[in-house]
Amino acid sequence: MSERFHDVAVTVNGEEVRERVDARKTLVDFLREDVALTGSHVGCEHGVCGACSVRVDGVVDTDEIADLQQAFIARNALQCGYCTPGMLLTAQELLARGGVPSREQIRTHLSGNYCRCTGYQAIVDAVEAVAQARAGAKR
Ligand code: FES
Repeated sequence: MSERFHDVAVTVNGEEVRERVDARKTLVDFLREDVALTGSHVGCEHGVCGACSVRVDGVVDTDEIADLQQAFIARNALQCGYCTPGMLLTAQELLARGGVPSREQIRTHLSGNYCRCTGYQAIVDAVEAVAQARAGAKR
């Protein structure tokens, strides 16, 4: 077997996947092409724009971000939706810390996720609204 290919065994969304993979293949290409999960998007292909963000060694329970997804829709925090999967995961990572982050903290935390369409205002509004709602739910 060429050194360029490696046998990998990973668990993706609770299912074990075993594949022989080109060593140069990125995780997102592996997920999209070998595992047929196209929810993760490829943007810059350099790990800079955040579009391909995935959660590693963790489970994303869809209910966990349902309120975020609804807030994004309600506040038009997406247009083309290309950045949205990564944006949601990154926002959830901040919100999982608890509390109500300031708009500046939200912007700083999402600064690694590029959006070409919305201008970010609506995204910050949506994340802030969910933070406040979750904090209110805890009172
Ligand atoms: S909604 Fe289009 S890149 Fe963000």
